[in-house]
Order: sequence, then C-alpha cells, then structure tokens
Amino acid sequence: MKIVHTVHDLKTALLPFRSEGKSVGLVPTMGALHEGHASLVRRSVAENDATVVSVFVNPTQFNDKNDLAKYPRTLEADCALLEQIGATVVFAPSVEDAYPEPDERQFSYPPTDTVMEGGFRPGHFNGVCQIVSKLFMMAEPTRAYFGEKDFQQIAVIRRMVEDLHFDLQMVPCPIVREKDGLALSSRNTLLTEAERGIALNISKTLFASKDYAKDHSLAETKQWVIDTINAVDGLEVQYYEIVDGNSLQSLTSWEDSDYVVGCITVFCGQIPVRLIDNIKYKEQ
Ligand code: PAF
Repeated sequence: MKIVHTVHDLKTALLPFRSEGKSVGLVPTMGALHEGHASLVRRSVAENDATVVSVFVNPTQFNDKNDLAKYPRTLEADCALLEQIGATVVFAPSVEDAYPEPDERQFSYPPTDTVMEGGFRPGHFNGVCQIVSKLFMMAEPTRAYFGEKDFQQIAVIRRMVEDLHFDLQMVPCPIVREKDGLALSSRNTLLTEAERGIALNISKTLFASKDYAKDHSLAETKQWVIDTINAVDGLEVQYYEIVDGNSLQSLTSWEDSDYVVGCITVFCGQIPVRLIDNIKYKEQ
C-alpha cells in the first residue's frame, strides 16, 4: 500500500492501473476510521483493481471552527487498518494541496441540500461538493463508495455527479451497526457508557416504527418516533423527516413514493453529541 500526500503522487501511483484500463474504486473519508469505513473499503477492494482511500478533514464543510479543531486525526492507525484490508493507495493531502486557491465554487442542488442537515448546517453540503468534486477529478474513479448513514450526503453528491457529468458509478453501502443496533459513527467515541445505552433508543425506535407504520399514517408515525425518543431522558430530537429517498422532499402519505426513508438527528447526553441515523420504510 502506498501512502501519498500530493495530487502529483496520487496520479503517479494510479498510472499503472490507468494505462492498462483497470478499474479504480474511491472511498472518500475524513479518517478516524471504524468498521463502517472498513466495510466500504472491503467492498471497493472486492469490486475494483485498485482502491484509493482519501483521508482528509475537509475544512470547507465545517460551519463550526471548534468542531473542525476537535475532529480526531489518527492517520497512523487509519493506515494500519487500510493496509490490513487491502487498500492500494491512501491519499492524505494537506489543506494547501487540496485547496491551492480558496474554493469560490457554489453548488446548489435543492431540495437535497437545503432540507434537514442543509437547514441546520448552512454551507455544509457546499463544502462536501467542493472536496468530493476535487477528489473525483484527482482520482478519476470508476466507482465511488459512500455509507448510507449519511443518507442526505449521497443524494446531494448524486445530483452533483449528474450535473457535472462525472463518469463514475456511485455505490451507496448499507449502514453498519453494532450488534445492539447503534449505527457506527466516529462520534460514538464521544459518548459515555451511560449515554451509549441511552443512544440505543434511537435505532430501537426507528426499527419499531416500521411495525407502527403498518397501521398508522405517515404523520402519526413521524410524531410517534419524535415523541418516543423525546420521552427518553438525555435524548432530544432535532428533526425527524420522512422523505422520498431520491429527492429528499418531505412526504405526507405513504403512497406518495416507492422509496420512503426516515432521517433523524438527535442530541444525546450532557455535552451533547449530535447523532444521525435513518430507516427505510420502502426500498427502491
Ligand atoms: O462523509 C464524510 O466523511 C465526508 O463528508 C466526505 C465525503 C469524506 C467529504 O469530506
């Protein structure tokens, strides 16, 4: 496995694969890797001749400077894991390399980037599109792998891929959960043992809501999820929206779409930690 820090070295590392027309998988990450990331990398390794994993804490997608400063940086441990699971190249650029000029580009894909996270984290998806479009241009992947925990991110990037005519296949990968249901996230390490126990109520309620939905309206189900989670001491729902899985437009009836997904963000604990999760009521 090669570890490279510049775009020039990334292109050089990929040259042997390109010249023979081989496939390249890209797994964009911000590091602090866990089993969720590992599952994306394993899939890419299985489906491509070469796998590039980018490890870059992208400053333009953080609207809170404190959050950016606090973001865990564990490149050495990340590389050890990536070597073990068969990545070909780790691309860990500096901020100067990724952004030689301030990025003035504005991406706008409403409603995918304006609803839910878009409303609560202004500019976040613009920053995501800035870095992901750069990574697509640098690595020119055949396939790009993203975890469905960040369900909205996938919808926004899909729109960007269509808009900018990137010639690649988007590969959304299922959420990886702990045995007890908690969705894996780098932020879980910020939870105390007690808070972790409380956080379990998020996935438990989402799973239970699939049964509840069988004989309740969409509006009733949405309210039931919000009330059930808010009734747990230490949890506070920021939003719960039941949306069309492609457009992310909020739905008012189960019949409005064949692809129905519930997306939630919940504050957990004293500090508090912001956790996201989602559930599919109807799969495409
Ligand atoms: O999902 C993430 O970790 C980031 O948003 C991404 C896609 C690596 C872009 O910085």
